[in-house]
Amino acid sequence: MMRKKITIPEILQMKQAGRRITVLTAYDFPFARLVDDGGVDIILVGDSAGVVFSGHDTTLPVTMDEMLYHVKAVKRADPRALVVADMPFMSYQVSIEDACRNCGRMIKEGGAEAVKVEGGSSMAHVIRAVSTIDIPVMAHIGLTPQSVHRMGGYKVQGRKDQAERIMDDALAVQHAGAFAVVLEGIPAALAAEITAELTIPTIGIGAGPGCDGQVLVIHDILGLCEKYSPKFVKRYAELAPLISGAVKQYVDEVRSGEFPTEEHSFS
Ligand code: KIV
Repeated sequence: MMRKKITIPEILQMKQAGRRITVLTAYDFPFARLVDDGGVDIILVGDSAGVVFSGHDTTLPVTMDEMLYHVKAVKRADPRALVVADMPFMSYQVSIEDACRNCGRMIKEGGAEAVKVEGGSSMAHVIRAVSTIDIPVMAHIGLTPQSVHRMGGYKVQGRKDQAERIMDDALAVQHAGAFAVVLEGIPAALAAEITAELTIPTIGIGAGPGCDGQVLVIHDILGLCEKYSPKFVKRYAELAPLISGAVKQYVDEVRSGEFPTEEHSFS
């Protein structure tokens, strides 16, 4: 059967049609295959790779070269899903020139079909410049992990008198040309209000059920990252004990001589 690649216009259309947009992260070839086979609309090559793949405490140390490596590996799986490359900290904040060049590298060298940048009104000029050169931009507002030090931790944003600022951020990124916006770690009622106000799709994570779509980190939903388990994550599998169990069995069998047998040998 022909696999029809998902495009940006189709993602926009999904909001109009009221069809919810499904997004998961992937950072390598096998997971990109599995996630695509599962039928997601968008694969986000997130800088969460820095935490769940590389073992850092935050996403801040992630580099352009590391992200390009992940994006290329994901693209080799030839996914039907739209591939969005996350822009790492300091690859787009310093100047418009840096932003355009680095976002361009994700498309030209990595093969991504869109990029994601964190920040609202303060990053609108970057979103405008990058989308003007025809690189589709997904924005990301609310709890933006690259702002961990300003926020004093990974804390819910947009409560009470902060709500207006988050709404302003949403309107600013839409106005600047973003094709979609991730709403992370904000009250569900505010996310629903933003979703009703915007014409571009909202993709929630820790933002309740009122968004146009949902994104989660693949390691979180599969129970592969036991270090953190945020309230907004639903675990659909518990793979960590399965994997350690398989490894333990292999170790036991090699030690006892039960493996390999003739069945696994050449004559
Ligand atoms: O890096 C990432 O995976 C993300 C999502 C969690 C939205 O930014």
